[in-house]
Amino acid sequence: MREIHVIGIGAGDPDQLTLQAVRVLRSTDVFFVLDKGEVKSDLTRLRHDMLETHIPQGGYRVVEARDPERDRRAGGAAYSPAVGDWRSARADIYERLITEELGEDESGAFLVWGDPALYDSTLGILEEVLARGAVAFEYDVVPGISSVSALVARHRTGLNRVARPVQITTGRRLAEGFPEGVDDVVVMLDAQQTFRRYAGEDVDIYWGAYIGTADEILVSGPIAEAGPRIERLRAEARERKGWIMDTYLLRRNPDTE
Ligand SMILES: C[S@@+](CC[C@H](N)C(=O)[O-])C[C@H]1O[C@@H](n2cnc3c(N)ncnc32)[C@H](O)[C@@H]1O
Repeated sequence: MREIHVIGIGAGDPDQLTLQAVRVLRSTDVFFVLDKGEVKSDLTRLRHDMLETHIPQGGYRVVEARDPERDRRAGGAAYSPAVGDWRSARADIYERLITEELGEDESGAFLVWGDPALYDSTLGILEEVLARGAVAFEYDVVPGISSVSALVARHRTGLNRVARPVQITTGRRLAEGFPEGVDDVVVMLDAQQTFRRYAGEDVDIYWGAYIGTADEILVSGPIAEAGPRIERLRAEARERKGWIMDTYLLRRNPDTE
């Protein structure tokens, strides 16, 4: 039976690969690396470096494939179908990789950024491939350190306040307002800098870009003060590198609700 490992590799800092991940890396025959295009080639390079560092004996194969582009123009009601089509296109690729590049008794691995359980579609895609029934395999998941854990560690703060909830959401959702009953919100996948809409409220921001890498930028403080600085640094970094990955925690003072 073919065996697949979905390995969380942390969000950028090579030291945040777990011992379990290293052990599984060393027992894997084939690594599938999905390239998201030129601008993200840094991330592909990081995966290659990780393999070279942790599997010094070599003996593994790396198979690269191009991840299909997602139609990000689709907004509102069209958002979900666009994601669905993109998932199916990815499932086609994963199915082909597993069928054609992995021998019956071999093990393969997908190296997933951060933790595979958080805003990542690999597990859903593998389930879709299994449901199609064209290829059989078993799979397991190795947790990784997410960008959320890395963010709050770098800012030396917790995610929640005492006995209070915390919610992880997207920039798209935050645009609709703070979630009901929640004053601590972690925001991912926000290309629009949605935090700006809270500049007039008593909200602190803990922001990080390229966390764990040599390009890491961290800013924290009340949004009214930190916001304009983040906007400037973000624009400069995006211009310089051609892409950006940032995450932030918004912490609202409940007294100001
Ligand atoms: C598709 S999600 C994947 C999240 C990943 N599974 C995790 O556990 O962190 C991508 C988003 O994660 C966040 N992200 C991932 N790595 C990051 C990093 N090194 N620094 C800042 N944000 C990061 C950004 O919000 C980015 O838009």
